[in-house]
Amino acid sequence: MTLRKTSSTPVPTKGVPAVAIDAVDVRFRTKKRDVTALSEVSLDVRMGEFVALVGPSGCGKSTLLKLVAGLLAPSAGEVRLQGERVRGPRHDIGYVFQRAALLEWRSARRNILLQAEMRRMPAEAARARADELIAMTGLQGFEDAYPHELSGGMQQRVALCRALLHEPPVLLMDEPFGALDALTREQMNVELHRIWRETGTTVLLVTHSIAEAVYLADRVVVMSPRPGTIREVIEVGLPAEREYGETMARPEFASATGRVRGLLGSAGEGG
Ligand SMILES: Nc1ncnc2c1ncn2[C@@H]1O[C@H](COP(=O)(O)OP(=O)(O)O)[C@@H](O)[C@H]1O
Ligand SMILES: [Mg+2]
Repeated sequence: MTLRKTSSTPVPTKGVPAVAIDAVDVRFRTKKRDVTALSEVSLDVRMGEFVALVGPSGCGKSTLLKLVAGLLAPSAGEVRLQGERVRGPRHDIGYVFQRAALLEWRSARRNILLQAEMRRMPAEAARARADELIAMTGLQGFEDAYPHELSGGMQQRVALCRALLHEPPVLLMDEPFGALDALTREQMNVELHRIWRETGTTVLLVTHSIAEAVYLADRVVVMSPRPGTIREVIEVGLPAEREYGETMARPEFASATGRVRGLLGSAGEGG
């Protein structure tokens, strides 16, 4: 079956973007001040696409993910998930944060299965899916370990399994590897890339790492300082198959990272 883009199709899930963010503003009013977090943000994410969001602290990246998850309502504009307007918290997405937020008294496997319990998924199917994800993320042998017995990278794998248990069409990741050491982070990048290709999930990833964004994404969205707007969307143009070292050495990688760095105005920008 092929999915073709036809704007007039009456079937809502065919050809429509996985995520459509349409002219969204977000204003926060507190007693002390009004903050415009996002201004006129529009972005379509295709089904199965991997989009990375980068931008300075406070530019509204987390706010944007919360809008998609329905945890926050826009002040103007609208957000649609697979064609359906987001009007409240969505249960069909996966969410991974910088902190794995695992329950200390539950084993890795039971942390993953928490998702099934909350959603009242059939137990048998949930266990099978958990086993599949445990194998996919290389957690075999650690199913019965408690969070304090796991490294930071392994804890994030558990969080990723938990987020993918219900096979969400859209996975939101908010600086998921920000607390890991550089080497573990690279390994997680390689694994996330493989898992994304295997599952076909649409991913929206917030990251501060330009290399991570370019290595993983089809497109990198560069945001401006607050009020957050989209400065530019960069098509990475790397092949789908991305061996880590080989990818880093490619001219497309250098040109995309250079472009992002230039837009972010980092010191020592390469062009
Ligand atoms: N619930 C809230 N109430 C008031 N201001 C908020 C709230 N959430 C975020 N903000 C403000 O909105 C801006 C964007 O925040 P955020 O999306 O967390 O930025 P980022 O994730 O890009 O660092 C910041 O200035 C932040 O202080
Ligand atoms: Mg944030």
